[in-house]
Amino acid sequence: MIEVQHLTKRYGPVTAVDDVSFRVERGEIFGFLGPNGAGKTTTMRVLTGYMPPTEGRAIVAGYDVLDHPIEAKRRTGYLPETPPLYPEMTVRDYLTFVAKIKGVPRKERRVRVDASMERARVADMANRHCGKLSKGYRQRVGLAQALLHNPEVLILDEPTAGLDPKQIIETRELIKQLGGDHTVILSTHILPEVGQTCQRVVIINKGRVVAVDSPENLTSRLRGSETMYVQVDATSEDTKRALEAIPGVTQVSLADTRGTVNSFEVSSEAGRDVRRELAAAVVTRGWGLLELRPLRMSLEEIFLHLTTDESAAPPEPAGADLSASAEASADGQVGPAEAAHEPGENAHE
Ligand SMILES: Nc1ncnc2c1ncn2[C@@H]1O[C@H](COP(=O)(O)OP(=O)(O)OP(=O)(O)O)[C@@H](O)[C@H]1O
Ligand SMILES: [Mg+2]
Repeated sequence: MIEVQHLTKRYGPVTAVDDVSFRVERGEIFGFLGPNGAGKTTTMRVLTGYMPPTEGRAIVAGYDVLDHPIEAKRRTGYLPETPPLYPEMTVRDYLTFVAKIKGVPRKERRVRVDASMERARVADMANRHCGKLSKGYRQRVGLAQALLHNPEVLILDEPTAGLDPKQIIETRELIKQLGGDHTVILSTHILPEVGQTCQRVVIINKGRVVAVDSPENLTSRLRGSETMYVQVDATSEDTKRALEAIPGVTQVSLADTRGTVNSFEVSSEAGRDVRRELAAAVVTRGWGLLELRPLRMSLEEIFLHLTTDESAAPPEPAGADLSASAEASADGQVGPAEAAHEPGENAHE
């Protein structure tokens, strides 16, 4: 449904997206995860046809976004980072206007506007001026606008940013409902969100893809080896020796000691399940086996591991730099440019 091939986008000397490739299947909910300045918004802008790529190509709903921009756009709903609203229009008028420029036939407009207000839960603000909406409601109107023409593909840039906790849960539920009928790409900084809503995730950092997988596979796969947590009531030296002797075990390290109870982290070769042997080694010696469980990396750990590991520079200043520059661009050129872009661009359709 969406295919991105060797996509590169440069802003002058800044390479925002660097040789990114991925595929999203029909009906999938696909998460974009990355720190500030990773290139999430830039990739989405290319996918929605708001900016041409410097290199590479993007195919959305069967149409190359460069060769067939109107066909691709017709099948795409886009919630930008800063939803472009007209402050002097009421929510209903604004959505009716968007329906018109998106080519929704006159007879269907009212029904579609009502349906999308219902879905994005903004019906209670239908007659409020857009300029007088709270940030959360502006976000919801942005979502209603993206859903208006019932597009096959939805591209949502931080759909839960600025929402209250109840609304975050409702929006996640809505996105889950949209999957299946729609193909959804969403970006987020919120790691649990990805685990809860997305079937697959791409983690990008400094414009490059560092991992693409399901949240479950990411959490189990990335260690490269399996690690078990074992708690035994026996002396630590004896236990360590016994565990190290098990075929397939590569490392045993003492994690904690409380009285006579010792806890170990036992690593084994990737793909090798040594739980039975671990249990047997302890129990046949008459020791107490108090706990045995696989240790998985949390999504947070994986994310930090993938996005801070390889660079020699201390991660904090680098992160701060990126977020500062991305924020400046979002507040400065990007927001207004987008607002100015949308109606102009669509008016041609
Ligand atoms: N219009 C622009 N002109 C110049 N550089 C830009 C522009 N827009 C983005 N950049 C730069 O491109 C890089 C990627 O920015 P992008 O907005 O795509 O990141 P992001 O992953 O969406 O970040 P965030 O999580 O903060 O929204 C950053 O280094 C940013 O400073
Ligand atoms: Mg962004």
